[in-house]
Amino acid sequence: MKIQKVGVVGCGLMGGGIAQTCAQSGYETVVREVNQQLLDKGMTRIHDAWDMMARKGKLTQDQVEQNRARLHGTLALEDFADCDLVIEAVIENMEEKLRLFPALDKTLKPEALILSNTSSLSITQMGAVTKRAEQICGLHFFNPAPVMKLVEIVRTISTSEQTIETVKEFALSLGKTPVIAKDTAGFIVNFLLIPYLLAAIRMLENGMASREDIDTAMKLGCGYPMGPLTLLDYVGLDTTLWAAEAIYEEYKDPLYAPPPLLRRMVASGMYGRKSGRGFYQY
Ligand code: CAA
Repeated sequence: MKIQKVGVVGCGLMGGGIAQTCAQSGYETVVREVNQQLLDKGMTRIHDAWDMMARKGKLTQDQVEQNRARLHGTLALEDFADCDLVIEAVIENMEEKLRLFPALDKTLKPEALILSNTSSLSITQMGAVTKRAEQICGLHFFNPAPVMKLVEIVRTISTSEQTIETVKEFALSLGKTPVIAKDTAGFIVNFLLIPYLLAAIRMLENGMASREDIDTAMKLGCGYPMGPLTLLDYVGLDTTLWAAEAIYEEYKDPLYAPPPLLRRMVASGMYGRKSGRGFYQY
């Protein structure tokens, strides 16, 4: 199956980054938000990223114009009707996803694929509320989506081999390196990353070191691009909490139990960079 037109549901941090990646890789792309204000905010972020790339000499002005022309914002799910592939990147809430998937199933042409960018919720469950479970899998991007080279392709027990092959080719066409994981909470990256991030929060909570020293230690001691608390702010504390809860729910392993400080910070609206405050102030 040849992918020509792509739909992205959600134009937040991840959806916007994914839409940007698809459009700049040459795909006709439609991105949908729930209201005009969120759509404008997401589209502006993408246009600013292209302007920044042009200033750095990574894109010509012509390429910026072509990218802009390939990307269409919408509020209507119906605008996905002729998409070959749709990537869902809405809030990490299963009820929300279980409302969206049947609606997409009704709207899309029968051969279209539906992919979820979820980081830890069950894709099998999302596929089960559609009539095309064999055409559904995960395609999990990492933040910032246009920059990070990895995508996790997540196979459910119903996903067909043909779907996996098509999505693999699609991922390569975006300049990404795909890895394949089973539909188990956390897949590969978050199963390994979340315990590390939560351990850093517990360290801070227990007064074992300052936030700066925790970050400096892991940056310089392990050669990571960001320390864990800076990375938490970057990924979003709310996103991390949802991921931790989902994996904890599946395995009941205390390694994944969200520390009280994380819960309190999310309850206070301290989501990290996106809300202006997390472990650091922005
Ligand atoms: N579009 C295009 N290019 C972008 C961009 C965007 N939206 N955002 C950043 N870039 C580019 C910058 O222009 C820059 O390019 P040059 O090197 O050519 O100048 C490059 O990316 C690096 O950006 P910066 O110079 O601004 O900053 P940096 O060198 O500190 O790198 C970073 C930033 C890439 C984010 C790096 O710090 C990093 O890799 N951090 C770790 C990120 C990470 O681990 N992400 C995964 C999180 S886990 C997750 O997402 C999964 C989940 O489910 C929770």
